[in-house]
Amino acid sequence: MEAIRSVEYDRPQGLTCGVGEAWARVPDAPSPEQKRELKERIRALLRREEAVLVAHYYVDAELQELADETGGCVADSLEMARFGRDHAAKTLVVAGVRFMGETAKILSPDKRVLMPDLDATCSLDLGCPADEFAAFCDAHPDRTVVVYANTSAAVKARADWMVTSSIGLEIVADLHARGEKILWAPDRHLGNYIQKKTGADMLLWQGTCLVHDEFKGIELDLLRNEYPDAKILVHPESPEGVVALADVVGSTTQLIDAAVKLDAKRFIVATDLGILHKMRLAAPGKTFIEAPTAGNSATCKSCAHCPWMAMNGLANLAEVLERGHNEIHVDPAIGLRARLPIDRMLDFASRHKKRVQASGDLAKDTSLFTNVGAA
Ligand code: 13P
Ligand code: SF4
Repeated sequence: MEAIRSVEYDRPQGLTCGVGEAWARVPDAPSPEQKRELKERIRALLRREEAVLVAHYYVDAELQELADETGGCVADSLEMARFGRDHAAKTLVVAGVRFMGETAKILSPDKRVLMPDLDATCSLDLGCPADEFAAFCDAHPDRTVVVYANTSAAVKARADWMVTSSIGLEIVADLHARGEKILWAPDRHLGNYIQKKTGADMLLWQGTCLVHDEFKGIELDLLRNEYPDAKILVHPESPEGVVALADVVGSTTQLIDAAVKLDAKRFIVATDLGILHKMRLAAPGKTFIEAPTAGNSATCKSCAHCPWMAMNGLANLAEVLERGHNEIHVDPAIGLRARLPIDRMLDFASRHKKRVQASGDLAKDTSLFTNVGAA
């Protein structure tokens, strides 16, 4: 495989901000009294603006609760895209990171899409500038271009397919079965995982997620020895040595499903710790332990929490609804082109789900999970 590019996390590009700046802008936790007031204000503003809140599992628990109780959704990036597209609301407020807001806008160009902080970005997006990516594609015209959702609209506009972690494996397996060679960007760990599972010919961009890249296989192994009864749940943006120890590898929704369905009382979780809120609600009585990011081999930049997801708070959510600023704009021509790979993925995901339901083979249902050991 060619090593194309390593990610320089702390170099802000354009409007986006680096890790240090993101942490500095994470809002202070409001007092219980302020929380109550802010939540009340947000409920009223959502009604006034005919808006719906679309949140990712990694954002603050208070935001997740508000999304759930006001008829919005808390979901993985695939479900967020679908929910925003299908919802009748005139305004979508996306509590997540910029690529999620852009995907919502691309799928719903006539809706107003707001975000609590437009600078909330992603190391994968930052590490894959559109011009360098276009040059990479130009150098390999024989390959089908598959990009992860965690990219800019301009990168998606250059792709044949967009995938998320909950359907990437199935889409690449299908392309491989058709004899297509893949150019994959930007997450090298997810690309490597999919390559190993499918045997596809994949050329990988060398981006990483700064949260998942910090999980440590050596320390995870030591922790597993301490809790031999625990099942290990891993997001596939994690390094190979961490994935190798997993009982389940999957998207955020798939990991929550696994926590509910697996017959275990204890889980070690290698993904952003924001997910633990939903896991605890979905599987009460079970114990969840954060996978180690520290230890002898530590270089921790994030300590299992995404600084850009953490930029979403109650105060800036209320503010954006009040003032209507922080609107996501996508150049219409880029949006139109970027919609093609996203629609392809959404159509594939619907067909896949129907096929699985018709065959009764629930183990292949992408709303369930991938068991590494069984594959
Ligand atoms: P999911 O598609 O699993 O929600 O992942 C998005 C993401 O950014 C994980 O770091
Ligand atoms: Fe990007 Fe990683 Fe944050 Fe997800 S957790 S948004 S992949 S930096």
